Amino acid sequence: MFSYRHAFHAGNHADVLKHATLVCLLRYLTQKETALSVIDTHAGAGLYRLDGDQAHTSGEAEEGIFKLLGGTNLKTGSKGALIDDYLAVLREFNPPPKTGSPMHKLRNYPGSPLIAEKLLRPQDRLNLFEVHPTDQRLLRGLVAQRDRHQIIRLKMDDGFAGVKPLVPPPSRRGLLVCDPSYEIKSDYGKVVDMLGLALTRFATGCALIWHPIVARPEAHDLPRKLKNTAARAGKPWLYASLSVKSGQSNARGVPVGLSGSGVFVVNPPFVLAPALKEALPLMVNAMAQDEHAGFVLETGQ
Ligand SMILES: C[S@@+](CC[C@H](N)C(=O)[O-])C[C@H]1O[C@@H](n2cnc3c(N)ncnc32)[C@H](O)[C@@H]1O
Repeated sequence: MFSYRHAFHAGNHADVLKHATLVCLLRYLTQKETALSVIDTHAGAGLYRLDGDQAHTSGEAEEGIFKLLGGTNLKTGSKGALIDDYLAVLREFNPPPKTGSPMHKLRNYPGSPLIAEKLLRPQDRLNLFEVHPTDQRLLRGLVAQRDRHQIIRLKMDDGFAGVKPLVPPPSRRGLLVCDPSYEIKSDYGKVVDMLGLALTRFATGCALIWHPIVARPEAHDLPRKLKNTAARAGKPWLYASLSVKSGQSNARGVPVGLSGSGVFVVNPPFVLAPALKEALPLMVNAMAQDEHAGFVLETGQ
């Protein structure tokens, strides 16, 4: 049984990078009238309380989204297009204060399924996969209440295996979002295989893959393997990573929290690289925990 629960990690620096990138992709891909099909292979619970026990226990949002905001107030000045668009989506999940109040508190943090639902249109489709029974139940309850619930299909199946029958989508416009918890080592290989298969069947589709920066060979090799997979398919890619601190372990050799993460995008829209180029230094500046904080932004074909 899986032990990973995203509620302990919601709003951390990895979510900031992943979800800001996701918002940029969805905003761009929904500009054309033709239907967009989104596949979220590892959906999570959908919505998280940042003032609840799980978030407080981990304190990860304190070191992530709250540092980006410089507090709990969602009413911040401009931080550039990519971050502003992401914060605009967070505002949608946090009711505005009474008129005149200078505070607009961030309490609810949307996960990838609700971010997608918020930005998709009636003609689009959202396919969600989640295997954890508790998170699946929570997500099912949320989906039922959403305005766009008719466009959503939620399955309690393996997201890696669920991709094949869904690509290519009938409209030939799609975004694959793959965000495993990498609890099991085999996830790294499955991500690469799944991307290879998706590109074989649907070479023009866009894909967003998240990965943690952790001290294990599979994690280290993953960006290179993803780049090779995209290159073999002759498709352009973008890789961005954000580190907030040194990846060192404590005296007992136990890694102290997640130091960084990366997003790999295949067939990135032209707006993504300049938007990240502006946003990444701001993210590093806001969320750095030591002098090892930094970012990488690469593109290739
Ligand atoms: C990192 S969380 C997802 C967070 C979510 N994508 C977001 O951004 O809000 C990973 C989720 O994948 C689920 N999971 C693990 N293995 C899976 C699999 N093979 N298929 C579908 N879901 C899986 C876990 O239960 C967990 O909820």
